[in-house]
Amino acid sequence: MSKPVVGIVMGSDSDWPVMKACAETLKQFGVPHEAKVLSAHRTPDAALDYAASAQSRGMKVLIGAAGGAAHLAGVLAAKTELPVLAVPMPSKHLGGFDSLLAMVQMPGGIPVATFAIGEAGATNAALFAVAMLALNDDELAKKLSAFRKKQTEKVLAKTLPEV
Ligand code: RP5
Repeated sequence: MSKPVVGIVMGSDSDWPVMKACAETLKQFGVPHEAKVLSAHRTPDAALDYAASAQSRGMKVLIGAAGGAAHLAGVLAAKTELPVLAVPMPSKHLGGFDSLLAMVQMPGGIPVATFAIGEAGATNAALFAVAMLALNDDELAKKLSAFRKKQTEKVLAKTLPEV
């Protein structure tokens, strides 16, 4: 397999059931990626090293997923100039609203693009990464157009039960 260009980083393996959708979507488009558990709090040095070396390792986009005191995507963004996308994880006590607020309140100067809480966000972060990579990849752009066309057709073909 070719070298990963998208790095999916999550704060805990407990985030994987949600973030699987992100990895699956990238796989569907044939985008080489890797998924890792690294925590802004539990493994801060490793998280910083990962972000600091990402660009020189050929990465183009990083996706950070975390829940609760969700600092991971911001910490990654602090150490790289690559685009960093953030996916708020549904949290045990506050449903992910805490994660969303933590991620979206980055200080000016260090941007993080934050997506919806949970699986929709995980899928959309992958689709957004695909859209960015597709700007310089005609084959990928064609795959994205085909995906959108198929999705549109699927929705238009839906029927509702008689009442
Ligand atoms: C965050 O804390 C992780 O991203 C996860 O969403 C949350 C809970 O982690 P665990 O206690 O399940 O490891 O850092």
